[in-house]
Amino acid sequence: AAGASAVIVSNDGRAGLVGMIGDATGLTIPAVFASSEAGQDLYSTPGATVTVTVDYFAEERITYNVFAETNTGDDANVVMAGAHLDSVQAGAGINDNGSGSAALLETAIQMQRVEPTNTVRFAWWGAEEEGLLGADYYVSNLTPEEIDDIALYLNFDMIGSPNYVYGVYDGDNSSGTAPEGFIPAGSAEIEDVFEQFYASQGLPFQDTEFSGRSDYGPFIAVGIPAGGLFTGAEGIKTEEEAARFGGLAGVAYDPCYHQLCDNLTGEGQDEVLYKDLARSVKQRLTGNVNRTALDVNSDALASAIITFAFDTSSLAG
Ligand code: PHE
Ligand code: ZN
Ligand code: ZN
Ligand code: ZN
Repeated sequence: AAGASAVIVSNDGRAGLVGMIGDATGLTIPAVFASSEAGQDLYSTPGATVTVTVDYFAEERITYNVFAETNTGDDANVVMAGAHLDSVQAGAGINDNGSGSAALLETAIQMQRVEPTNTVRFAWWGAEEEGLLGADYYVSNLTPEEIDDIALYLNFDMIGSPNYVYGVYDGDNSSGTAPEGFIPAGSAEIEDVFEQFYASQGLPFQDTEFSGRSDYGPFIAVGIPAGGLFTGAEGIKTEEEAARFGGLAGVAYDPCYHQLCDNLTGEGQDEVLYKDLARSVKQRLTGNVNRTALDVNSDALASAIITFAFDTSSLAG
């Protein structure tokens, strides 16, 4: 049952959820003792739950969300954009998710030069990897009125994968994978804005899973339309994708996903694989971020945020 959720129950009785059975079967389980029910797979593996008893203590920590907000704009029509700032314990998380965090930060800095019509609220989430804890905490502490004041949420988690595709969250459910009522109205129009950006650059793009497996999950769960970008994680690039996007077929989009080698030094990366990858995508052996993908997606992100900062009327409802 690849991709199944696993409930991890520790020897002191605390329980948490991990996104993939692969984490549990090898018992190479990261610290996942979030005492939260927030899973990373909201629907991709219904009912597939296993209980694993783990024989070690997890550390408890306090972690933080970081926010920045424009001084001008309509507070009753807030455009939110976020990226998670934490990584798994295994590594520094440079593609996952230094990439999204850095692109969002640069956009926030550049946006000081404009006065948007709508309030723009940037969020850098903590503890995404432990089960969307930061975003879940934020959303669950909003009043109904505050929820109503958020026009949309844009999410950026892994936007520079070394063997990338340009993936746009499937807000119109054209892949037909989301259950009835799962995706809030307006998400299709958000998908359109990103797609129009890639089209305007003459670049290929494709739908990617809109499953709740990142910080937008708690937002769509309360009916806030959402969208975002994703260049791929542990999944394997197909021949078709390699033909459209370049890169290597039969290789993970991010071969260092959730590993120590998700870094900017190249240390720990498989020499042969990365040499092939580097040659195929014309990147230097300087770690786990494809600079072209990061550059393009930074522009895509900025373009979508600035579009909605001035006008959200394309959103249904
Ligand atoms: N949330 C996943 C992680 O941080 C990455 C991911 C994003 C997976 C979007 C699927 C879709 O590891
Ligand atoms: Zn991750
Ligand atoms: Zn991530
Ligand atoms: Zn779609």
